[in-house]
Amino acid sequence: MLKGKNILIGISGGIAAYKTPYLVRLFKLAGASVKVILTDSASQFVSPLTLATLSENAVPSSFVNEDDQGSVSWNNHVALALWADIMVVAPATANTLSKMAHGQSDNLLLVTYLSAKCPVFIAPAMDLDMYKHKSTKESLDRLVSFGHAIIPAEDGLLASGLSGAGRMAEPEHIMSFIVNHLREGQPLFGKQVIVTAGPTYEPIDPVRFIGNHSSGLMGYELAKRALKLGAEVILISGPTSLDIEDETIKVIRIRTAVEMNKAVLEYFQDSDIFIGAAAVADYRPAHVHDQKIKKESFANPHIELVKNPDIIAGLAKIKKHQFVLGFALETQDVLKNGTKKLKTKNLDAIVLNSLEDPGAGFGHNTNKIQFLSKKNGLKSFPLKSKSAVATDIWAEILKEL
Ligand code: CTP
Repeated sequence: MLKGKNILIGISGGIAAYKTPYLVRLFKLAGASVKVILTDSASQFVSPLTLATLSENAVPSSFVNEDDQGSVSWNNHVALALWADIMVVAPATANTLSKMAHGQSDNLLLVTYLSAKCPVFIAPAMDLDMYKHKSTKESLDRLVSFGHAIIPAEDGLLASGLSGAGRMAEPEHIMSFIVNHLREGQPLFGKQVIVTAGPTYEPIDPVRFIGNHSSGLMGYELAKRALKLGAEVILISGPTSLDIEDETIKVIRIRTAVEMNKAVLEYFQDSDIFIGAAAVADYRPAHVHDQKIKKESFANPHIELVKNPDIIAGLAKIKKHQFVLGFALETQDVLKNGTKKLKTKNLDAIVLNSLEDPGAGFGHNTNKIQFLSKKNGLKSFPLKSKSAVATDIWAEILKEL
């Protein structure tokens, strides 16, 4: 959720400021760009140099900058505010909260806040009686009425030696609060999505298998896009060289069609959307040899095959509210074969791609698809990166829902 986002952290002068370098680090690790503004008093609790090093950006705290030669330049708070996709004020002291709630603007943090158009998250931090005070509550209520999100202070030991609510939320909690908040605004928030991806490998003996050329990339891109759209995502993946960096996607690795079927059935009932992007082997060897087959001993070189379960077709029989999307990779008669699969497998929609189209199907970073829906008919797309195709597919699914 935070990858590629510009996050502006405003730090006001409370002891909890010492935790903010860790917050900067967490945002950076999540793939965000980070800039930090300090109030003068905050710089007594945390070093601007630490924050500049971790954020890889200058850390302004006053309206103007003066260089060694004495020349003065303006810290452009408007540009800073417009740069931000998200502003986080952490820690927000009682003083800063009150000033934010009443439009006061006597420091760089406050003028930047007043110029910001992005979502603002506020993590209060103060002693317990200050946090309980009616005035603080009124400030927080006003800030909520402006549309800002308050990250509640946590319970625990305070700098005063007292214990109670008032500690700034831990950096991990600030981060997960923001991620959840952003996710809640997304169209797939509250939906569970299952995506199957990659090939299946059907073993013949310990060194050989029947498989196919699927790289899994299309399925992985669909899973990543679903996460960005706010879904809870389960990716059931055959053997691929791909990885998912985001730990919030639950990745289940399987090898065979039977294993994939088992994993799908375990999660399907509670899911809302199923996407079968895997290239499932239709058959598997009837007998798997314990030892490597030696060519001398393979007098009669035939492999007897048995049918694998048709995973997606099986879901049609048990599905209730779920939206089920299949894939069809064809080498000829794409539309005819795809339409047949849509009907016989009782799918809600199917993505058609053809190996006849250069750049489409297995082994490319690109794909050229048609989206065929039971409800909305056929829509064709040009050749695009698989990541852009995933965006198109999800846009179509959202229309269907
Ligand atoms: N599929 C599946 N289980 C199988 C075979 C396919 O769930 N045993 C799913 C695929 O994930 C895909 C859709 O069915 O979403 C179509 O797969 P495809 O291989 O094109 O179709 P098949 O039914 O296997 O037909 P054929 O191989 O004859 O084209």
